[in-house]
Amino acid sequence: MEYYRARTLMLLVIFIFPALIECKVRLYHFRVVLKNTTKLCSTKSIVTINGKFPGPTLHVREGDNVNVRLTNHVQYNVTVHWHGVRQLRTGWADGPAYITQCPIQPGHSYLYNFTVTGQRGTLLWHAHISWLRATLHGAIVIFPKKGVPYPFPKPDKEKIIILGDWWKADVEAVVKQAIQTGLAPNISDAHTVNGQTGAVPGCPSPGFTLHVESGKTYLLRIINAALNDELFFKIAGHNITVVEVDSGYTKPFSTDTIFIGPGQTTNALLTTGKSVGKYLIAVSPFMDTVVAVDNVTAIAFLRYKGTLAFSQPVLTTTPAINATPVAENFKDNLRSLNSKKYPANVPLTVDHSLYFTIGVGIDPCATCTNGSKPVGAVNNVSFIMPTTPLLQAHYYNISGVFTEDFPAKPLIPFNYTGNNTAINLQTTNGTRTYRLAFNSTVQLVLQGTTIIAPESHPFHLHGFNFFVVGKGLGNFDPDNDPKKFNLADPVERNTISVPTAGWTAIRFRADNPGVWFLHCHLEVHTTWGLKMAFVVDNGNGPNESLLPPPSDLPKC
Ligand code: C2O
Repeated sequence: MEYYRARTLMLLVIFIFPALIECKVRLYHFRVVLKNTTKLCSTKSIVTINGKFPGPTLHVREGDNVNVRLTNHVQYNVTVHWHGVRQLRTGWADGPAYITQCPIQPGHSYLYNFTVTGQRGTLLWHAHISWLRATLHGAIVIFPKKGVPYPFPKPDKEKIIILGDWWKADVEAVVKQAIQTGLAPNISDAHTVNGQTGAVPGCPSPGFTLHVESGKTYLLRIINAALNDELFFKIAGHNITVVEVDSGYTKPFSTDTIFIGPGQTTNALLTTGKSVGKYLIAVSPFMDTVVAVDNVTAIAFLRYKGTLAFSQPVLTTTPAINATPVAENFKDNLRSLNSKKYPANVPLTVDHSLYFTIGVGIDPCATCTNGSKPVGAVNNVSFIMPTTPLLQAHYYNISGVFTEDFPAKPLIPFNYTGNNTAINLQTTNGTRTYRLAFNSTVQLVLQGTTIIAPESHPFHLHGFNFFVVGKGLGNFDPDNDPKKFNLADPVERNTISVPTAGWTAIRFRADNPGVWFLHCHLEVHTTWGLKMAFVVDNGNGPNESLLPPPSDLPKC
């Protein structure tokens, strides 16, 4: 008996413990459940993971295999997307409903199985069906490989800060009503910091408190998980130093304000060098056009240890809601670290030069309140969601699900950022994709339009990081603008805000076979069809090919 016990212990020591220390597989169980939640003095039932809002954090190390078993215990179909995780050859785990998988139906489960390769920093996960991501989201913390330091002074502590938006109404009801009526969905009622709004007129609420000690350095992992709002983040009396965005290191730069679009993440160092006390943290929206936006500032506090109870906070002003220069200046300051260890591998040649207009239009709709409805379109194609996921159709060669004729440039050129009040607002519809050979290089110029209203669009590409090589106001000039491109140290990210009535040029290498969604990360625009997909072929041999689908891949 004793012998067996000793032997078991020895086996544990030899085989199991080292495996635990290495931690190569990270297991999580995500149970999708409803939870009654009170905010803004009003209670509703929300969809959560494991009853938490924001949801649980994934802590992984670069190189780890992540296994998340999702079991759906709510009445909605659910999928989860690991926003920014490259999903090399594992598109089946990417998550966007009807793009890479059928939704997980009530009572069903699915194992998301993927490996985090060549990335470190902060990302987020969120539901990728309807508007469920309003409450189904959380952080993904990716530590560097064991023994690999950060390329900046080691912080004393790390803190996750998730920004969001909050509706008093049921969010699924909000979007349902908008689709039925063809009217714009109701804007949110408040913004949140780690799930808390802070006090708003008529409803007291303490707000989130970030507890710190004097004389320390904190790594803030800031995530914008809001559906529809680009945000400013500011801490009274403190500058912070940006060191990473979207899981890629940047050249450090100090700022008093962070600009962050939905789906984006920013890691920044905060040094607690001010006098002991309480400092306001303000999260306010950015909107530099005529579109309605939730203008309620989320209020949180930075609180030094030793601050007396009831001491008055140090306040700050928020940037003007339409502070375009603050947003643009923040973007201008972002550069890839581009060190020996973390080079910026910018494609220097271009196989596919694409020019996509992005904006909204109006299509007829007989059943809608005004006989019309807003639509989003890329190159005037409003994307129609398929009923068979594109990745399955691609893998099994099922015809009739999508076409491969997405236009590389606008079919009818016009003055995209001019006065377009007289233009035909109607779009075409289709499930059209653009096909790329494995390892081909792409330059994509995203051109905002002034149709209906010019607007800033945070565009997100699945499956890749891209380099932001240029941006400007007005129309992209293919002769002169490329001369000014930054091909040396452009920032590398997965989501970029295309400026209002302006353009942004990105480059990436199509080194990940599969079907990859490109869309505006304002959920309202995604709903309206401001999206398309790239089909990336397999390369040579198994290492350059999409893996076969897992056996538990949901059926529609
Ligand atoms: Cu974060 Cu397709 O989304």
